[in-house]
Amino acid sequence: MYLTHTFKLLLLAIFCTECLCCPSDCRCEAKDRVVNCSGSGLSELPRSGYNRHTKTIDASGNKIENLRNHTFSRLNIIALEALYLNCNVIVTIEPRTFVGQGTLKVLDLSENNITFIHPDTFVFTDNLEELLLAENPFLNLDENEFRISTLTFIDLSSCGLNRIPTDSLPNSTDGSLQIDFRYNNLISISDDSVDAQKCDNE
Ligand SMILES: *[C@@H]1O[C@H](CO)[C@@H](O)[C@H](O)[C@H]1NC(C)=O
Ligand SMILES: *[C@@H]1O[C@H](CO)[C@@H](O)[C@H](O)[C@H]1NC(C)=O
Ligand SMILES: *[C@@H]1O[C@H](CO)[C@@H](O)[C@H](O)[C@H]1NC(C)=O
Ligand SMILES: *[C@@H]1O[C@H](CO)[C@@H](O)[C@H](O)[C@H]1NC(C)=O
Repeated sequence: MYLTHTFKLLLLAIFCTECLCCPSDCRCEAKDRVVNCSGSGLSELPRSGYNRHTKTIDASGNKIENLRNHTFSRLNIIALEALYLNCNVIVTIEPRTFVGQGTLKVLDLSENNITFIHPDTFVFTDNLEELLLAENPFLNLDENEFRISTLTFIDLSSCGLNRIPTDSLPNSTDGSLQIDFRYNNLISISDDSVDAQKCDNE
């Protein structure tokens, strides 16, 4: 049986309701699974147009100042794995910003101006492996507790820290977690609970 022109069009229409989408001001690759909005002058993420199965959003190099509660759950995406928000001007992260992001593995928040992170912020990203917070020069982690057992790397370099916030960091007993503390203002390292190998301070 040969396909009629109409039938072919119908098939195309069915397949393309899923695939031909990309949020405005972004570029999409890998069958829309990578949404790249870097360097687009955005002050917030586009709210629609995402493929439900988007794995990566790169929104680095924009002018995003605030991350609002439920921002990512509202994008109607179900399996986000990597989120790049580096090189923005982020000051505030509302505590419920990352609700529903249990699939997220890489979160890049480096080169922003984050000073405070609410202790509940990462409760919703409970499979996170890499958390990048480098170059947030006024970061204060005293009230935080990163209780995410899946973390393998935390970048806290160039964060203006003058002590290691031992109470906030996960207890890594098996050496599976690396924390980069380079380029801070650490004065003393006294707490025995911090493995010397973690403190790659220069
Ligand atoms: C997004 O695009 C920029 C500029 O073309 C590129 O440097 C960057 O690697 C891309 N990000 C991803 C996740 O592919
Ligand atoms: C965001 O969520 C937190 C925690 O539930 C809440 O305290 C705060 O008021 C919310 N922010 C806004 C602007 O709704
Ligand atoms: C970053 O935050 C600090 C502390 O709130 C503030 O003094 C500084 O002006 C901010 N820097 C920029 C570039 O917004
Ligand atoms: C690490 O272990 C200490 C002592 O057992 C505990 O008091 C602290 O809350 C733990 N920190 C985290 C982030 O789990």
